[in-house]
Amino acid sequence: MQIFIDSADAKELAALAVTGLVDGVTTNPSLVAKAGGDFFETLKAICASVSGPISAEVVAQDYEGMLAEGRKLRTLADNIVVKLPLTPEGLRACKTLEDEGHPCNVTLCFSAVQALLAAKAGATFISPFLGRLDDGGQDGMQLIREIRAIYDNYDYPTLILAASIRTAAHVRDAALAGADCATIPPAVFKSLYKHHLTDSGLAAFLKDWAATGQKIL
Ligand code: E4P
Repeated sequence: MQIFIDSADAKELAALAVTGLVDGVTTNPSLVAKAGGDFFETLKAICASVSGPISAEVVAQDYEGMLAEGRKLRTLADNIVVKLPLTPEGLRACKTLEDEGHPCNVTLCFSAVQALLAAKAGATFISPFLGRLDDGGQDGMQLIREIRAIYDNYDYPTLILAASIRTAAHVRDAALAGADCATIPPAVFKSLYKHHLTDSGLAAFLKDWAATGQKIL
């Protein structure tokens, strides 16, 4: 499964990129507002530190406006992916931009039939929002399973990008459900390394090694 980081904080993303585990980045208008700074400069900085797909979201809500914004965002770097909302205008813009060779990520997906439409519009990525469904008392992971089954039934190449991830368990379950990618907030990404038995096991190994009085280097 590809690991994307859900953030618009260029500095933090550069620090996470050195792990060698970051395959891409997703941003959205709320994350851009939270990070502060100039939108275009931020995107350029992110694209310079992460070579994989970097989603940048349009804010126009009409077809022509989405096309214009999407084309402009794509001039910033080759690895920009145009993020479009799952609306009739957004899917229409997705079809046109994909036909022109611009990869698109259709965002704010909350149902399997929405994901079916995005695949038919030729989207490179579909972003089902797990956490927001869970927040509302629904089962976000069931949506991933349904989309996986539908895409497999018809061999749709659209990649399932599990989004709105809140916990390490979400990452595990999205991987088990066959999501192609998961976009993970920085704090959740860092938590994936952690297990208390790793920490206590390492401490015991180092204590025993110190007792031997030997060195490797
Ligand atoms: C995905 O592309 C979105 O940026 C993101 O995952 C939304 O997550 P949230 O529900 O935590 O805002």
